[in-house]
Amino acid sequence: MPIHATEQGWILETQSTGYALGLNAAGLLAHRYWGARLPRPEDYPPAPDPMPWVSFNGAAHLTPEEYPAYGGLKYIDPCLKVSFADGTRDLALHFDSADLREGNALDIHLCDDVYPLRVTLHYRVHEAYDLIERAATITNDGETPITLERVWSAQWHLPRGDTYRFTHVSGRWADEMRLQREPLVPGIKTLESRRLTTSHHSNPWFAIDRGTADERQGEVWFGVLAWSGNWKLSAEVTDFSSTRISLGVNDWDFAWRLAPGDHFSTPASYAGYTADGFGDASRRLHDFIRDTVLPHGHTIHKVLYNSWEATFFDVDEESQARLAEIAAQMGVELFVMDDGWFHGREMDNAGLGDWWPDARKFPRGLTPLIEKVNALGMDFGLWIEPEMVNPDSDLYRQHPDWVIHFPTRPRTESRNQLILNFARTDVQDYIIGQIDKLLSDHNIAFIKWDMNRNVSEPGWPDAPGDPRELWVRYVYGLYRVWETLRTRHPDVIWQSCSGGGGRADLGILRVADQIWVSDNTGATARLFIQDGFSHIFPANTMEAWVTDALNNQLSLEFRFHVSMCGSLGVGGHLLRWTEAQRAEAAKWIARYKDIRHIVQLGDLYRLRSPRDHALSALQYVSKDRAEGVLFAFRTFIPDPAQLPLIYLDGLDPDALYEVEGFPGSRSGQAWMKAGAQLDLSDFQSTVRRIRRI
Ligand code: GLA
Repeated sequence: MPIHATEQGWILETQSTGYALGLNAAGLLAHRYWGARLPRPEDYPPAPDPMPWVSFNGAAHLTPEEYPAYGGLKYIDPCLKVSFADGTRDLALHFDSADLREGNALDIHLCDDVYPLRVTLHYRVHEAYDLIERAATITNDGETPITLERVWSAQWHLPRGDTYRFTHVSGRWADEMRLQREPLVPGIKTLESRRLTTSHHSNPWFAIDRGTADERQGEVWFGVLAWSGNWKLSAEVTDFSSTRISLGVNDWDFAWRLAPGDHFSTPASYAGYTADGFGDASRRLHDFIRDTVLPHGHTIHKVLYNSWEATFFDVDEESQARLAEIAAQMGVELFVMDDGWFHGREMDNAGLGDWWPDARKFPRGLTPLIEKVNALGMDFGLWIEPEMVNPDSDLYRQHPDWVIHFPTRPRTESRNQLILNFARTDVQDYIIGQIDKLLSDHNIAFIKWDMNRNVSEPGWPDAPGDPRELWVRYVYGLYRVWETLRTRHPDVIWQSCSGGGGRADLGILRVADQIWVSDNTGATARLFIQDGFSHIFPANTMEAWVTDALNNQLSLEFRFHVSMCGSLGVGGHLLRWTEAQRAEAAKWIARYKDIRHIVQLGDLYRLRSPRDHALSALQYVSKDRAEGVLFAFRTFIPDPAQLPLIYLDGLDPDALYEVEGFPGSRSGQAWMKAGAQLDLSDFQSTVRRIRRI
């Protein structure tokens, strides 16, 4: 049984980790342990009972509570803060009861001493992935409303007394997912989004170590929040060296009016522990995402062509058909028409909201183009941006009140567009109707769902509750629209794009199959962006195109190799490619088809990061370790005497392997410990197939 109750509390065990919690003498639900699995239940330490330490540090402040609420003598960052109808803003939670469900789920109910407020902490064990899932539900059992001012999903506690290093990602548009590493010092380090989406700027993911872990070894605690809206991560080191990471919906500008009888449920946070370094932490998340989060986690994604960088808004049947013919000859399997195809869309200043084919560009509708694409042996995909509206659109002229706005304020446009209020059911239903019709009327196999601006003037004039519920209800609305469309069109593959990687998280991956990682398709920049992305997300979600933009001096080979590390796509202007380039592309596409099952579904090993090395390398290995593929990229190295050795990983040490380009075979152990010498010039790359004999 992965969860057992003992006199000391509860122990949650996965394949190789243990997590323990229990009530201390003061009746507080306290964290006891999180780390390597211990042999016996008695081995887990009891709930700590800290003594008050002068008047400035009471016992409650010193207790590592599983879900601290704001109240009493507590100054740590709490998970829950409420305001009762009588103005009281103090919570005193006591343990009420616990339910162990199906052996792998635990609900712990806490109640306030005086007010009819109930907190249910949900725990679920994902044994095979060494992950623990947490969430909370707050219920108003009384007769007057309660205002929630902060309601987070979980607080994760690290072993007390040590100093830690915090790994996270930061960035901006066209430069997402840059890995950051910094020491955690006393105080609070906050990461957040206030932009309505997950954002390009940081991501609700953390990895914590003692400063000594690397890709292959060392203790790492890691986790995510599965949420696609405003979020906050608080990494706190208290005045008594207690380190905790809290994750949840952002409390900035947030309020939720909890009516009598109502409840509020937080999104889930998943966290895990490994003794085997950052590489293992990533692989656990990747497996979990593929096996349990993604709708089509084990489907091999097709090689796609996307027309955006070739034709921009200037699409019509003829231009797309010409691109499609070349794409098909190169071996592309899915042809995606990007922006520009719908009513009134000449540029980015009109059309969003009117999701039917533009009569001037497509006088015969989309079907002849789709039939042409299908006749060429490819699936057809389409770009949409349903959360948005241009003021110059039929939809906005009919429903100017449907956008997020304050009536007395200007409606600030960004890329000439405003945001439809997806918190409103009428807006959701309208969009469901429009996109459903599009999918029902056409043979569409793939949707790229875009979202090209961040929020401003976050008003909701007719909100039924507190207008600040917008931040959360918008995301619920978004999920409802995607889920409904997915249910009606279960075979369609969906890509989440928000001007590149602005919406990449485990919440959206419950409804999307892939992420458009970045609008930056420059191959050297991509090495960094993909490296950061790979810490969280598996390669089958990482859509990567070969383009011309920002790539003038890089060979087609280098560009293909970079994109072949994920789900390969092509986005260059094929009409301008020479016959030789098209033939070379066909060769790389064929090569990718040969290795993509290993890339998309295998285990990732980051051998040398581009952050630290001008010779970077990564490797994918099939689950049965019978085959693998090595990628290596050399950027610029001034006068290297000899390139460093590449040490492979993830192979069976006792089995014999051949690595393409090297004579003979060697044991897995030899490839991993004695390394391999590659010979690459500046801005050269290589892909090598690995085979067990
Ligand atoms: C965003 C996307 C691009 C492209 C354009 C179309 O920027 O990230 O890939 O689809 O929108 O307007």
